[in-house]
Amino acid sequence: RPNPIDMAKYVSARRALDYVQDGMRIGLGTGSTAAWMVRCLGEMIREDGLRVTGVPTSSRTAELARQCEVPLATLEDVKWLDLTIDGADEFDTDLSLIKGGGGALLQEKIVATASDMMVVITDASKHVDNLGAFPLPVEVIPFGWQTTKALIEESLIGMDVASRSVTLRLNHDAPYRTDEGNLILDLHLRRIGNPRQLALVLNQIPGVVENGLFLDICDVVIVGAADGTVEVRD
Ligand code: A5P
Repeated sequence: RPNPIDMAKYVSARRALDYVQDGMRIGLGTGSTAAWMVRCLGEMIREDGLRVTGVPTSSRTAELARQCEVPLATLEDVKWLDLTIDGADEFDTDLSLIKGGGGALLQEKIVATASDMMVVITDASKHVDNLGAFPLPVEVIPFGWQTTKALIEESLIGMDVASRSVTLRLNHDAPYRTDEGNLILDLHLRRIGNPRQLALVLNQIPGVVENGLFLDICDVVIVGAADGTVEVRD
């Protein structure tokens, strides 16, 4: 049971499970909101006899799903998914997202894109008029990452953004490593005027694996509130 602080995340996660049907293959997102969804899904499997297969988007989610007795498969096994439920760091009125605050954006984007439907679970603090207040995570391979960083900085000149600083994500004092062993560069842009253009430009730079902009991927955003109410946007 959640404490009051987690109530918004919990009720949003619970509502997302209304989209789950028996026999579905479900992408399991990463983060504290998605963790509530995994726990509730485990409960439905144990107590209601729901049969589903989960595809985790990170090693952390895989571990939690195992603890919650959610049957798991890989994307290679199932190839396509009926539904993905995941959190987000920001969403706007078009249901465009920034993800990757938890470092799992690559697997999250692959899994969400391989799903018939993506449902995002959030609270009102994640809503923005313009994406970009949250630093945009970009996953890069370690080889030559300083060069990749310089190319990203160069590509931001002339781009419609309010700030252009790029930092290497750290885990304590060492570079943060993703599940694939890659690095994350956080782009502190404050406001992204043209997310589509930015996403295209970033992914053309050698060394960039993926960026945290999720455009035209999310179908529904569920916004939970601390008083237990939810708002569904689609
Ligand atoms: C993980 O890489 C992210 O994309 C998460 O979905 C995002 O950080 C949301 O996490 P919380 O639910 O913990 O805010």
